[in-house]
Amino acid sequence: MHLSGLLPLVVLQLTLAAAAAAEAVILKLPYITLQGTTSTDTNLTVYSRIPFARAPSRFRAPQPPQDVRAAGVYDATRSFDMCPQRASNGSEDCLYLGVYGRPWKEGQRKRPVMVSFYGGGFIQGDANLRAPWPQVYPVLNLTADGFVAVYVNYRVNAFGFLPGKRVKDGADLNVGLLDQRRALEWVRSYISKFGGDPNDVTIWGQSAGGGSVVSQLIANGGKTKPQLFRRAILSSPFWPRHYRYDSTEAEDLFDTLAELTGCAGNATVDPLECLKTVPVQTILDANVVINAMHTNTTSSYTWAPVIDDDLLPLSLSEATRRGAINGEAVLAVYNTYEGTTFIPGYVSTENKTREWVKGFLPNFDETALQKVEDAYPPSANVSARDRAGFIYRDVVLSCPAFWLAAGAKSGWIGEYQISPARHASDVGYWNTVNSLQTTSPITYKGYTGGFAGFITKGNPNAISGVTWPPIRNGKGLGMVINLEQFGTQSLADLKKKCDFWRSMGGTVPV
Ligand SMILES: *[C@@H]1O[C@H](CO)[C@@H](O)[C@H](O)[C@H]1NC(C)=O
Ligand SMILES: *[C@@H]1O[C@H](CO)[C@@H](O)[C@H](O)[C@H]1NC(C)=O
Ligand SMILES: *[C@@H]1O[C@H](CO)[C@@H](O)[C@H](O)[C@H]1NC(C)=O
Ligand SMILES: *[C@@H]1O[C@H](CO)[C@@H](O)[C@H](O)[C@H]1NC(C)=O
Ligand SMILES: *[C@@H]1O[C@H](CO)[C@@H](O)[C@H](O)[C@H]1NC(C)=O
Ligand SMILES: *[C@@H]1O[C@H](CO)[C@@H](O)[C@H](O)[C@H]1NC(C)=O
Ligand SMILES: *[C@@H]1O[C@H](CO)[C@@H](O)[C@H](O)[C@H]1NC(C)=O
Repeated sequence: MHLSGLLPLVVLQLTLAAAAAAEAVILKLPYITLQGTTSTDTNLTVYSRIPFARAPSRFRAPQPPQDVRAAGVYDATRSFDMCPQRASNGSEDCLYLGVYGRPWKEGQRKRPVMVSFYGGGFIQGDANLRAPWPQVYPVLNLTADGFVAVYVNYRVNAFGFLPGKRVKDGADLNVGLLDQRRALEWVRSYISKFGGDPNDVTIWGQSAGGGSVVSQLIANGGKTKPQLFRRAILSSPFWPRHYRYDSTEAEDLFDTLAELTGCAGNATVDPLECLKTVPVQTILDANVVINAMHTNTTSSYTWAPVIDDDLLPLSLSEATRRGAINGEAVLAVYNTYEGTTFIPGYVSTENKTREWVKGFLPNFDETALQKVEDAYPPSANVSARDRAGFIYRDVVLSCPAFWLAAGAKSGWIGEYQISPARHASDVGYWNTVNSLQTTSPITYKGYTGGFAGFITKGNPNAISGVTWPPIRNGKGLGMVINLEQFGTQSLADLKKKCDFWRSMGGTVPV
């Protein structure tokens, strides 16, 4: 933490007097005294920068934040650094979160809480709240008193997800996920001071943010104690093939990073100890090289959670088969053509699709490849490229969504079909204030309202004005989201595809 961020109260009041319509608010936590703002323009109270851990040691689990009360009031109105991104700077001192909600006073009813993890393929992203309408405001604005929204920074790429046996022995695996868990523990401890109910938490993420939610859902074999959240929303959860931490693929990744950073091949130098001390820029340069090596054979996003026999003891397909899922309810959405977003440009003919499948599923023999061909036959009405996209979508996005929605105690799933229905096509309806909310009011209320009802009432039908059908015993209907209209469809075909991938789970691996 930078001491320069700790300002005497007098200076703060002078600074804020200049900002019209924003009133300084002071909040005391046991380790820090925060100064945020309440804006009468937006009717929001915002604390955009709160340390939820110490500045972490590289590749090490996060530790609770320092007690900085003695240094005075902490200016929580600032932004914070991104964690180091795949290819651009940031700071390793990045474990901050932001909180916003409607103004709240001690004694008023506690509100539900929504904790968000960002997307960015586990290689990039940051949690800074955007002014004047922070992320997910279109959801909050559909509710009466709203909810308390929390945005969490977590470490990404090599800094967050370096795998390998050496890491297990001499550091910590999946530290990006441990950052998220630390933030959830922070929420459990302190969110009531912000008017949030610590027993009514929903976690939400899109893309790798959804993959983060997948991880927290299956953490500790579904037996996290105490439970850190009640509900989870998976928006296009990105769950790239995930390997064991000591698999050949994971060890190759470690070795490649060590070589590219000059940390390998010297008997007197331990590669992990060396990686802990090389400049950030050295790892960023290596990240770029590594990423370019994997465009065909794995997802182009190399870094991802690994099975670590600890936080993540089971694969997703195995965890969901056993019902090893944290929390009570899951609301999941995938987009029809979002797999195609991830298919390399050269895949334009059926032969190229077959070539790509071989690279995408390197452990599949001819028999297994033929099974894929049978499950996803070429068809006159599906382009070769979209056929590859459907394979990718089901493995990486829609089956993870389906398995968790179907495996949770209560679950709902929707398919977003509004053209072009690519990855992230749906985000504009709920994440940012824009014209969609007025040009497509039915979609806005039905879709965004589904999230609003789920977060505040545990029920996607409470506010949306449409009926999201529940999944029961892994069967039932899925919601279909179309432009200004909603419908339902059988889940039989998706279930059949996902059963197929589950049967291949060990070799995908998923
Ligand atoms: C990161 O910062 C260093 C030092 O300021 C600079 O030399 C380098 O170009 C920056 N790298 C990127 C990718 O921005
Ligand atoms: C929030 O909702 C109110 C009431 O429906 C509406 O008047 C206002 O424009 C909305 N604000 C934004 C930023 O969308
Ligand atoms: C601000 O939000 C609070 C809490 O939802 C609400 O009671 C109040 O009416 C709102 N004030 C304005 C000016 O909209
Ligand atoms: C190996 O590392 C040691 C300690 O940093 C250094 O003195 C030595 O020159 C290195 N050897 C090679 C071959 O790079
Ligand atoms: C990916 O496949 C294409 C087409 O076969 C090939 O031209 C390209 O070199 C491959 N890229 C990598 C990084 O292997
Ligand atoms: C596709 O591959 C098959 C089998 O390898 C080959 O016979 C055929 O000529 C290829 N088609 C095209 C259009 O390249
Ligand atoms: C393609 O056509 C088949 C049968 O005619 C139909 O079942 C399937 O839904 C169609 N697929 C798409 C993506 O339209």
